[in-house]
Amino acid sequence: MPPNGFVSLVGAGPGDADHLTLGALKALQLAQALLYDALVSEDILALAPQKCVKICVGKRGDRLSVSQDKTNELMVRLAKKGLHVVRLKGGDPSVFGRVEEERQYLDTHDIGHKTLPGVTAASAAAAQFSFPLTHRGEARSVTFLTGRTKDGAIDLRDESISDPMASLVFYMSSHNATHIEASLLRAGRSPQTPVVIIENAGRHSAQLRTGHLCNLAWLVCDASFDGPVLLGIGVAFAYARKLIAENLACVEVEAKHNSERLMATFGN
Ligand SMILES: C[S@@+](CC[C@H](N)C(=O)[O-])C[C@H]1O[C@@H](n2cnc3c(N)ncnc32)[C@H](O)[C@@H]1O
Repeated sequence: MPPNGFVSLVGAGPGDADHLTLGALKALQLAQALLYDALVSEDILALAPQKCVKICVGKRGDRLSVSQDKTNELMVRLAKKGLHVVRLKGGDPSVFGRVEEERQYLDTHDIGHKTLPGVTAASAAAAQFSFPLTHRGEARSVTFLTGRTKDGAIDLRDESISDPMASLVFYMSSHNATHIEASLLRAGRSPQTPVVIIENAGRHSAQLRTGHLCNLAWLVCDASFDGPVLLGIGVAFAYARKLIAENLACVEVEAKHNSERLMATFGN
């Protein structure tokens, strides 16, 4: 380890440990200090060595636990002790993950670092509920947007907003559904544009709600969310298949049942 230690900025994926890349797993297993986001699941944290120092620096919505400045300082302080610090972030560090702010801070303090990608929540949701983010002839682009900006205002000037062939995925935006619905309708999107609302993508507890742009705000208001939420808007989301997650659970139960039957029949 270099005298100044080293920081791995690692994407944890959106939830369950089976979304981790092998690179992320290796980095975690070699962690001496772990600074993790609030959205990182317990089963992923359990993969780090027991001796590793584990500090939650994450925030959920407006509930700030550790400021960004404090997180930056902690990373540097721990690395300067000569440790391998893993900064574990939900999803992909490059998507609304403030990773560039952290890299710049590390550069300023002469700390070596590398970034390991993760599965972003939109990709996990698309796989889990079997819809595409782009689809030949129907959805030619996908745009990731956020309803939360540094100054608290939402900015919907992106030209994909009005493009009927663009898929839009909104992160951190459920509180802004009314504004998003009105802005997209004003920009000329059809009221019948399919929408999905996905909570806890990539986890067993994932929930899918479907509807149309004209009732997006109502759909969001009607639900109470415990976990993180994505909003998907565009024709590609019409392909979302509600039953897939339930089917998967059935397959798992069936597989367990079959293996128990085999064990009972043939022994160990
Ligand atoms: C600070 S952003 C981080 C995004 C993360 N870097 C990624 O690539 O998924 C946090 C927001 O991502 C979305 N998000 C993260 N994990 C999610 C999940 N498992 N299901 C649905 N949305 C999720 C929510 O909109 C949440 O408010």
